Amino acid sequence: MPNIALFPGDGVGPEVVAEGVKVLEATGSRFGIEFAFETLAIGGDALDRYSAPLRRDDIRAAGRADAALLGAVGGPKWDDVDSALRPERGLLQLRKALGLFANLRPVSVLPALAESSPLRPEIVAGVDLLVVRELTGGIYFGKPSRRWTSGRGRAAVDTLRYREDEIERVVRLAFELARGRRGKLASVDKSNVLQSSRLWREVADEVKADFPDVELEHVLVDAMAMHLIKSPSRFDVIVTENMFGDILTDEASVLPGSIGLLPSASLSAKPGAGTGTRYGLYEPIHGSAPDIAGTGRANPAGTILSAAMLLRWSLGLIEAAEAIERCVADAIAAGVRTPDMAEPGSPVDSTAEFGADVARRVAAA
Ligand code: IPM
Ligand code: MG
Repeated sequence: MPNIALFPGDGVGPEVVAEGVKVLEATGSRFGIEFAFETLAIGGDALDRYSAPLRRDDIRAAGRADAALLGAVGGPKWDDVDSALRPERGLLQLRKALGLFANLRPVSVLPALAESSPLRPEIVAGVDLLVVRELTGGIYFGKPSRRWTSGRGRAAVDTLRYREDEIERVVRLAFELARGRRGKLASVDKSNVLQSSRLWREVADEVKADFPDVELEHVLVDAMAMHLIKSPSRFDVIVTENMFGDILTDEASVLPGSIGLLPSASLSAKPGAGTGTRYGLYEPIHGSAPDIAGTGRANPAGTILSAAMLLRWSLGLIEAAEAIERCVADAIAAGVRTPDMAEPGSPVDSTAEFGADVARRVAAA
């Protein structure tokens, strides 16, 4: 019986996680799997209840589970709290504590939604890329990170630091993923300026020796920002350091027409429950969207597709994962749409209606 830890978190988090669970339960009954869920606290939710954005016990409980599904963290309510207690700290602590070094963010464009992209349909047609973002190193975690005041006024520092083993493991995973796809890897850095990027590029070239069948290109991050909206379909797998990956994936998220559609997987080196799998934390890439929290307008597709990634990458349940992905695409193609996916003035479905529709389709798949 697979155990799944749930971190609903803040804003629309609880609403979208509820739909993820609904679809997992339907998938379980269709494929004869019984999931056990345990709900844990993170972010502002945890801060309000326990005065900390993530408790040790909850880290341990998540680590004991076979995988974890998370909604979102953060919101204006906690904007003024001490930086060590910010809701986002909870997520960063969780990633670090569980060793979730590789963040997979697939971006593809559903034909039914090609017209909703702000980019021309011929630019987004055929987009199918996978961004692999390093998640536990770089400027998010480097020390020193602090601010101070001197005679010359306020100052602050953050540190972008990487060791070669941290680069190697994520780049190697990206090569393996590229091998299973179209055999193309783009490594993104800023090696014309940064030392850490020159090391990144060097290590990527070394790992390449083990992957003669994968084509490697190096792309500077500023150029990649441009290519992603000019010619996104030319990329297959993109690997990059933590902050570049954070920025580029928000940019890439506009391609499918709504950020609400996009899932993610954060994988560790620890084996998962299925053969050849890894322990992971799964979450939609949209944030907590406090402006629409509680209104039933959030798009749960990103979370439902994250649940599908969970089945694939941590439990090895490929058929069940594919069923969910197909049913999400079918629901959207059939016109089931939350407001973010709908044409202005056309009828819309609520978060729960979208989830129920997908669950019905999976149960009948
Ligand atoms: C993301 C988010 C997080 C990040 C925040 C909430 C800490 O933007 O997952 O992309 O910057 O990693
Ligand atoms: Mg981000």
